[in-house]
Amino acid sequence: METVFITGASRGIGHATAKYFVEHGWRAITCSRDEVPDGCPVREEHQHITADLRKRENLGFAAAELYRILAGEPLHALVNNAGYSPKSDDGARLGCLDGDLSIWDDVFAINFFAAVYFSRTLTKSLARGEGAIVNITSIAGHRVHPFAGSAYSTSKAALSGLTRELAADLAPLGIRVNAVCPGEINTAILSPGTEKLVERIPLRRLGSPEEVAAVIHYLCSPNSSYVNGAEIPVNGGQDVF
Ligand SMILES: NC(=O)c1ccc[n+]([C@@H]2O[C@H](COP(=O)([O-])OP(=O)(O)OC[C@H]3O[C@@H](n4cnc5c(N)ncnc54)[C@H](OP(=O)(O)O)[C@@H]3O)[C@@H](O)[C@H]2O)c1
Repeated sequence: METVFITGASRGIGHATAKYFVEHGWRAITCSRDEVPDGCPVREEHQHITADLRKRENLGFAAAELYRILAGEPLHALVNNAGYSPKSDDGARLGCLDGDLSIWDDVFAINFFAAVYFSRTLTKSLARGEGAIVNITSIAGHRVHPFAGSAYSTSKAALSGLTRELAADLAPLGIRVNAVCPGEINTAILSPGTEKLVERIPLRRLGSPEEVAAVIHYLCSPNSSYVNGAEIPVNGGQDVF
């Protein structure tokens, strides 16, 4: 049985991805502050590591726990999905000049540094599993977004860059590295008012977490064996205008 490690799988895209992989015969090991929801079929069949990825010392703990669970077995996929998109107290977008600088520390720790850490630390295990890494970036990493703040957007731009660098460096080890770049997906991370953006999405609707999960799974499967260093938009055509 193949094993995937997914960060930020307590809800939203990460949870849908854990469910999707388990339904397709994989073992999913998840990591976030909360467990996957009660009553979810994934909960019966997977293992969870509780960790706040904002704190650097917890990254080492999470990796050690993962190795303990793997018990010498290889890892076949790493999905760097955990994400944090802070807003101001009244829900407004935080631009470059807004908020405390510590917000940038937290955002980059969760959205970017955790991905750097796990990609580096799990390389040997992934090489043994001829594995794949999928980073979850964002449309906000490529253009100014009406709701996503500047720290979030620049952390996602950095994650897109990391995908390119890892793809070059890890390919000789037999590890493919790609990104999935969601547009407006119906999860808790969306801001009030997102409905207005739907008018400018050619498919005229939000995406579902399952529609993102299917693309993540594709990038971890042999069907994508010659796909490396790609960033696949999953956005209903939002970026065609
Ligand atoms: N939904 C969209 O429209 C959209 C668009 C573009 C990109 N994305 C990206 O897609 C990914 C998933 O987002 P989502 O929409 O599913 O958001 P979500 O529903 O808010 O889920 C975010 C996940 O990240 C985890 N997380 C947040 N802070 C964490 C921390 N300090 N330590 C560990 N885990 C943490 C959360 O778990 P806990 O709270 O339990 O820790 C949760 O499982 C993110 O990287 C996001 O930036 C989403």
